[in-house]
Amino acid sequence: MSKLIGVLTAGGDSPGLNAALRGMGKSAIEAFGMQIIGFRDGFRGLMENRIIRLGGSELSGILTKGGTILGTSRDKPHRMPVGGKILDMTDVIEENYRKHHLEALVCMGGGGTQKNALRLKECGMNIITLPKTIDNDVAMTDTTFGFDTALGIATEAIDRLHSTAHSHHRIIVVEVMGHRVGWLALGAGMAGGADIILIPEIPYDTGLLAEAVLKRSRGGKRFSIVAVAEGALSRKDAAKAIKDKDGSGKKKVPLTSKTMRLARELEELTGLESRVTILGHLQRGGAPSAADRILATRLGTACTQFINDGKFGIMVAARGDGTDPVPLEDVAGKVKYVPVDHPLIESARRVGTCFGDQ
Ligand code: F6P
Repeated sequence: MSKLIGVLTAGGDSPGLNAALRGMGKSAIEAFGMQIIGFRDGFRGLMENRIIRLGGSELSGILTKGGTILGTSRDKPHRMPVGGKILDMTDVIEENYRKHHLEALVCMGGGGTQKNALRLKECGMNIITLPKTIDNDVAMTDTTFGFDTALGIATEAIDRLHSTAHSHHRIIVVEVMGHRVGWLALGAGMAGGADIILIPEIPYDTGLLAEAVLKRSRGGKRFSIVAVAEGALSRKDAAKAIKDKDGSGKKKVPLTSKTMRLARELEELTGLESRVTILGHLQRGGAPSAADRILATRLGTACTQFINDGKFGIMVAARGDGTDPVPLEDVAGKVKYVPVDHPLIESARRVGTCFGDQ
């Protein structure tokens, strides 16, 4: 009897998810004669047993499509809103997994999904995950699919903002996604030639930013582009975050945009007019880049091979040109921050980019 594989996509959608579903599904069907069912809307669909059979025709023509044909949600198995309450639905999920006699469940997602997947693995299910997120913050993998596409979109946006900033002699502050890490802002800021790049890993001093803008003005460049990660913090806010952690048991400051305030402060301190552009979900929408299609296909097809080899409880990590099975225990609960001494930061500093810390 052929093996049945379940698959779901969880967390924020990401370009490349459909390419990964296609890579995993097609190779499972064609190389190993397996069958695939998808659960709709992440762990919620698994709990509610809402399935879709993924055969050749469902998996065909989706390589270039954005979003996820399965739908997604941020619901967690152990904290699921049900009938106005938050309930632990892990038992129901396990029951559905057993009911279908699944050989394995593939969970495609970011950091949160890795944690949820580990919990299911600990209940005895055969779990394999793929790392997807535009934030590139999943530990133990070179990169995640979705990141390259978002990087391209954010870079193009910064390119376009340059000409209008230049024409109006303005400061344009462009907010880039990335959750609590700075990979996307750093990459897009560098590729787009932003004058200032602000990332969560390097708390900034607003006075130093104003000085950098004024220095450019004195040199005849009466405009500046500031690429700010949504999670970036001023030194004051960063100190408060640590205080909150010590004082109230809260771990982090809430992820609320401080970009409008930053633009206002820069306008006051420099006398230059400022404008804000928040790129938001544009960065997650639309067709995946060529690099993400390739990465997702690589990870998806490797995933099938691991299933066939009976290798479970792992994330399929991207490693160089190949892939690596990493135990979920080594991934779950970890975040891949930008190291403050990362070579990219060093290169950016060498071309005069200001990070607001010196
Ligand atoms: O994790 C991907 C991401 O796009 C983050 O960059 C962002 O902080 C978050 O998701 C936004 O989530 P939502 O789509 O639920 O608003």
